[in-house]
Amino acid sequence: MDSIVFGPDLALGIPVLDQSHRIVFDMLEAMENLPRPAFDKACRELATEFMEHLREENSLMERIDYPAAQVHRAAHGNLLERISRALRLLRDGEEATARDIVRSLPDWLEAHINTMDLALAIAVSRLT
Ligand SMILES: [Fe+2]
Ligand SMILES: [Fe+2]
Repeated sequence: MDSIVFGPDLALGIPVLDQSHRIVFDMLEAMENLPRPAFDKACRELATEFMEHLREENSLMERIDYPAAQVHRAAHGNLLERISRALRLLRDGEEATARDIVRSLPDWLEAHINTMDLALAIAVSRLT
């Protein structure tokens, strides 16, 4: 991903999900050149935002009895592990590695939105 921007190509047509994806992209963009300790605080806020967003998606999958929920939930777990690891690294003074992880998140998210979230959005749209 060249720039950390939530463009129309990433919109799924489910407002609650699109809004949340936009927020995390905005947060990641704002974190790019943020010095410490503001970066650490932003990381914690990002983790909270991710948790809320992923909870929302997980409960949406439950509500529609989504067949691919297990693998999708596992991917969400992977994302939470990444941000948790970044927070641990910051605590341990490994700033460069923590920043590398945060810098990798937009590409991870873009790939996830374009595959798993898109498939979920299609499943939701078929039910409405
Ligand atoms: Fe998502
Ligand atoms: Fe997802």
